[in-house]
Amino acid sequence: MIFEQVATGGCQSYLVGCDVSCAAALIDPEISQIDRYLALATRHGLRIHFLIDTHTHADHFSATQELARRLEVPVIMHRQSRAPFVDMRVDDGEMLLVGDLRLRVLYTPGHTRDSMCLQLADRLLTGDTLLIGGTGRTDLPTGDAAALYDSLFNRILKLDPRLLVYPAHDYKKQGHSTLERELATNPRLQKRERGAFVEMMGSLNLGMPTHLTEALRTNMSGGKTVAHMLSEAGSKVSFMSMEELKSRLESEERGLLVLDVRERDAYLEGHIPGAKLLPRGQLELRVNQELPDPTRRVLVYCDLGKVSTLAAATLREMGYARAVALDGGMVAWSDAGYPEKAGAEP
Ligand SMILES: [Fe+2]
Repeated sequence: MIFEQVATGGCQSYLVGCDVSCAAALIDPEISQIDRYLALATRHGLRIHFLIDTHTHADHFSATQELARRLEVPVIMHRQSRAPFVDMRVDDGEMLLVGDLRLRVLYTPGHTRDSMCLQLADRLLTGDTLLIGGTGRTDLPTGDAAALYDSLFNRILKLDPRLLVYPAHDYKKQGHSTLERELATNPRLQKRERGAFVEMMGSLNLGMPTHLTEALRTNMSGGKTVAHMLSEAGSKVSFMSMEELKSRLESEERGLLVLDVRERDAYLEGHIPGAKLLPRGQLELRVNQELPDPTRRVLVYCDLGKVSTLAAATLREMGYARAVALDGGMVAWSDAGYPEKAGAEP
């Protein structure tokens, strides 16, 4: 068996492969690590057949949908998952065949209603049901402390105590544990009476995870994150450095149109000399009259360099093949002490 654990901060993903057939499954992948997963699979000579989320994540951005599109393989989640992009829903007691490997599904609600653990030979991928020295929280949408109690004490903790525990989160870089060790030392497992356990889970007062709203929105709907939108746009355009632009403006390069896509107030307060104003919100509707020559080189900028990347990508999509985004924005331009002009252009 080939088994790779990939950490993204505290989030853990797993690439599991059969060395006889070269088939593999990827579990709980995170969007920023797509290149790493694909490179790891290639390094081991594996082909990924399944993309699995152990539950709807509230604290990181799942890569299953994006990878499914690229690899043309199914996304798998528990039957209770609401995500519309899931191709195959599985339930307790079922198995996925990954070459000669058997991934056995255990339905373990509690952290979320759609949580499952996956048993694989001598190990258990516990998702956020059981962590090393902790458990998943139960105070986020669809969480249920009593259900978590049952999933732990009446289910996975009754399995072979020697099973290795590989969780979906590990903030202290411990890697893995065993059921036996967790039963003995995990502070959350010392309340073995249901009422006391539920009361403890209700009194944890945990802070909200960062990106909660965006993670739930994208993981439940299959929509894109802001970072994903920016990275897609950034791969469709080329960029020009501020120094390069400054020297081209100084040499009065002919044909270069500098386009400010911020709002009018910001433009009037100070813009790159000679820049034309066309706010991002009006770009598509005014582009025909404002930029009649699609062969002209257009350099787009905004305040921070993000909106301008999106705008330049839109322009390229509309046929402005020489649209370029500024690597930086007006804020950095001002900080660098480069020339700016207030008021309107003639
Ligand atoms: Fe989670």
